Amino acid sequence: MTSTSLSRRSLLLGAVPAVGLVTLPAQARAPALDFVVIGDWGRDGRWHQREVAREMGRSAAAVGSRFVISVGDNFYEDGVTDVADSQWKSSFEQIYTDPALMTKWHVILGNHDYQGNVEAQLAYTATSSRWSMPARYYTRTETLADGTSVAFFFLDTSRYIRSYQRHPEVRVQGQDKQAQLDWLEQALATSKAAWKIVVGHHQLYTVTGQNHDFREMISPFKPLLDRYGVRAYINGHDHSLQHIVVDGVHYITCGAGSATSSVAPPPPGQFASDHHGFMAMRLEAEALGFSFVDDEGGVLYQGSIPRRA
Ligand SMILES: [Fe+2]
Repeated sequence: MTSTSLSRRSLLLGAVPAVGLVTLPAQARAPALDFVVIGDWGRDGRWHQREVAREMGRSAAAVGSRFVISVGDNFYEDGVTDVADSQWKSSFEQIYTDPALMTKWHVILGNHDYQGNVEAQLAYTATSSRWSMPARYYTRTETLADGTSVAFFFLDTSRYIRSYQRHPEVRVQGQDKQAQLDWLEQALATSKAAWKIVVGHHQLYTVTGQNHDFREMISPFKPLLDRYGVRAYINGHDHSLQHIVVDGVHYITCGAGSATSSVAPPPPGQFASDHHGFMAMRLEAEALGFSFVDDEGGVLYQGSIPRRA
């Protein structure tokens, strides 16, 4: 893993490029898949949502983003009530307006979405040209021009968080936890993709120093990530931007799409920021590159994950 972090001071001095990833002349580029990731965002444009959306549009246009991934908590404080809920317009359609964001949005559910009608978020798929949530958990595979394949495994993690069992407003009671784990293990075991990336709302690890590692996420999911060669786990929920490596798996938090929470200084070799922002990713045959970009277009951090040997 190679990575470069830029301090907030260097960011304020403007010593960073204006877009998420360096662009190269077309003839110099290896086959690549560019996309952007955002989490924890729907606040009617407030709490910097609109500014993050603007910069995500600019970066998506600059790199030729093919799709968007949303890591959940799509609407605050409560999810939508139906497909006609005004939040669809005030927090999604009227916010992410850049033409470069008129691609498919591959979306998962967070705990705040479960404070509304989850079926409505699934149903919006049929009414929208870009919103895509075909099931509560699902897979997608993409293939680069050189034949390299990447499989995304999209999860629904709220049922695994113990504290929600005491909060009936997060409507996950009665879900079969084991069924999704069995599905994920089968999907990971049978995938022939060169790259495996798992996307879930809740983190396994955090560097914020607030003891917010979720043991109830680590226990069921870490063994599967380790056993089946997953390179990256991307999550939201923690309202920050983070990069942590545990046993060769890269844990990337991208939950800063609107309001953020303070973070403690991370240990050496890890990264955390409380800036509002999103992530631009570029997958190539041999490396998965990513940039955290803030709501003024500054690059906070860049990382590169090598393909597993
Ligand atoms: Fe959350």
